[in-house]
Amino acid sequence: MNQDKKKYMENNLSYDLNEHSLISPLDSESPLYEPKIRLGVLASGNGSNFEYIIKSIQNKKLNAEISILIVNNPNCLAIKKAIKYKIPYVIINHRDYDTRLEHDRKVSKKLEDLSVELVVMAGWMRIVGEELINRFTNRLINIHPSLLPSFKGVDAIQQAIDKSVTITGCTVHYVQKEVDSGSIIIQAAVPIQEKDSKETLKQKIQKMEHIILPLAIAKVAKNIRTNFKGNK
Ligand code: GRF
Repeated sequence: MNQDKKKYMENNLSYDLNEHSLISPLDSESPLYEPKIRLGVLASGNGSNFEYIIKSIQNKKLNAEISILIVNNPNCLAIKKAIKYKIPYVIINHRDYDTRLEHDRKVSKKLEDLSVELVVMAGWMRIVGEELINRFTNRLINIHPSLLPSFKGVDAIQQAIDKSVTITGCTVHYVQKEVDSGSIIIQAAVPIQEKDSKETLKQKIQKMEHIILPLAIAKVAKNIRTNFKGNK
């Protein structure tokens, strides 16, 4: 191999390694199960994760259908994505309810009325109460932009920058009462580089979120199907 080519490959290898993100656990294939799982998606913001769930279904990477998108924010962009992909959606604005419990009950009822089997919090900027957690035990999951248990709560990406960590990432986990504390389903690690701004880091983390959330949904769906099989 000539020196130029060798140097080129070494440079590119180190570049690739620096940019590389790690997903764990990483099964070679998305878990398979039948029949398709009925999802309810909760979102408050841009809905990019929501969109990637839809794309994974369209690409046959995820055996699911989205029964409903529930948003709490009437102006969120996730609604536009629901319209674009013809997914049913409902706005359940928390400001219309006196208590968190009442809002939670309304959300739970909607999900139950539609026989939703698995609830995905994809950028749901609300703390959910026991009402929802207890009704959907082992069937309620959340995506968070850090390697939990580090940097729980709001502005996790800024928290990671402030602590000068060199690796951060994202986590999909089951939801329990304590915020961002339930069992971890899957994580992706993302290196923080000196040149990163909060915005570039956010983009890198979101890129990994879009990969791991559909994988996590498939994993949990498979568990649900396996457990149900025993009851038949
Ligand atoms: C994601 O970064 C997620 O980790 C956090 O909220 C963000 C939602 O982004 N919980 P989007 O609305 O899916 O684009």
